[in-house]
Amino acid sequence: MTFKTIKPVLLLSAMIAGQAMITTAHAEGDAEVGKKVFKKCASCHMVGEGAKNKVGPYLTGIVGRSAASVEKFKYGKSIVAAGEAGLIWTEEELFDYLKDPKKYLRAKLDDKKAKSKMAFKLKKEKDRLNVIAYLKTITAE
Ligand code: HEC
Repeated sequence: MTFKTIKPVLLLSAMIAGQAMITTAHAEGDAEVGKKVFKKCASCHMVGEGAKNKVGPYLTGIVGRSAASVEKFKYGKSIVAAGEAGLIWTEEELFDYLKDPKKYLRAKLDDKKAKSKMAFKLKKEKDRLNVIAYLKTITAE
């Protein structure tokens, strides 16, 4: 009796685990394509050697960097609060942030009045995956 009820559950969880692995494998961006996507960001952000702050902070080494951690960049209050709360820009966090920075900060801080100084949204999932793959290649040396 117990055997019969447990077995389908095990089978089902094995199927879910397999599915999750497949999904993760597909969720890898293409850095070459991402370089082109970054043109949308380049009016406000610099990357690479000698990168400076523009309208937005420079993004060299952004993957793995603490939020709002570039000295001399005047961040908005909300992203500073998120940084102080320990937010690190992992690929997953960036993926959510880039879709809608204001909405992301509101959810993250559980504050309906949170604001973002970044007035740009990267809606397409593919674009976000690709641009993150590209940013991953721009590490701080
Ligand atoms: C119109 C200008 C503008 C564009 C375009 C823009 N950003 Fe931003 N970005 C900003 C500003 C301003 C901030 C600072 C946000 C704040 O203080 O709330 C920011 C912040 C960020 C941060 C957080 C940095 C940190 O140090 O915590 C990341 C990551 C980021 N942008 C990535 C991108 C990417 C990737 C793109 C392109 C897909 C992009 N941005 C496009 C203006 C822009």
